[in-house]
This record gives sequence, structure tokens and C-alpha cells, in this order.
Amino acid sequence: MPKPIYVLSGPNLNLLGTREPEIYGHQTLEDVRKACEARAASLGREVVFRQSNHEGELIDWIQEARDKASALVINPAGYGHTSIAILDALKAAGVPVVECHLSNPAAREPFRRRTYVALAATGVVSGFGLASYELAVEAAAGLTR
Ligand code: DQA
Repeated sequence: MPKPIYVLSGPNLNLLGTREPEIYGHQTLEDVRKACEARAASLGREVVFRQSNHEGELIDWIQEARDKASALVINPAGYGHTSIAILDALKAAGVPVVECHLSNPAAREPFRRRTYVALAATGVVSGFGLASYELAVEAAAGLTR
């Protein structure tokens, strides 16, 4: 089996299910984890699923992925719009990157319309709630068959 697909989630996504449910839905991060694991398993793949509220911790995991992952799925949350350091880490990762968002940031406030992460991503999946993650895992698996 190829190396696992790292699925990383950024700040405030630990609050999924209770955080602005009208935007992000009622499903929890645990639901997202199970859905990603199931989609990966259906494709004969594994995920390493992690969430952090801390930029440096996310960067450490992206660096870890250089050796340990076949591909990276990342929902950078608010850091996507601000973090050049995460962009730099992704550019150095040497594995395909798929960016994902539960909501469709392009249809929200102007400051959400651009993410730095997109500059390092092969593609972006946005607006499908939990399914954005499933689709991103599928895309990542396809990029690393
Ligand atoms: C988000 C969109 C971001 O703009 C926001 O800061 C988030 C979540 C999403 O999944 O829709 O925290 O990444």
C-alpha cells in the first residue's frame, strides 16, 4: 500500500458541529475523520487525520509529510488566508497537495476569496461540507495511485 494520505485541519475546526452550524454544518470533526477513513479504505488507502489550532504544529506535520505521506489534504481554515509560512512548508513538502474547505470561501467575505495555500495546491475542493474532505481524499488518492 502507498504511504498514507495526511489530512490536516487548521484552527477552530475542532469546534465543528457547534461552530456556526449554518455555515459549517452539524457534523463533527470526528464525523469528518470517519468519512475520510472510509473513503480512503474504499480506495485501498489510509489516512493520518490531525487537527491543530497552532500554525507551528501544522507546519511540523507538513514537514513530517515529506517522508511519511504520499499526499496531503489540508483545510487550513483561517490560516489559509494569512500564512505564508504554511505556504512555504507546503511548497517544500514534495508531495501533491489538495486544499479543501467545508464552505465556499469564494462566495463569502472578500478577505476569504484568496488563500495562500492555493498557490501550492494541485486543486481545491470547496463548498460541499463534509463531502469536500471525502472528495479531496479521493483526489489525493488519484494523484498518487
Ligand atoms: C474554512 C473557510 C475559512 O475561510 C475559515 O476561516 C474556516 C473554515 C472552511 O472549511 O470552510 O475556518 O476553511
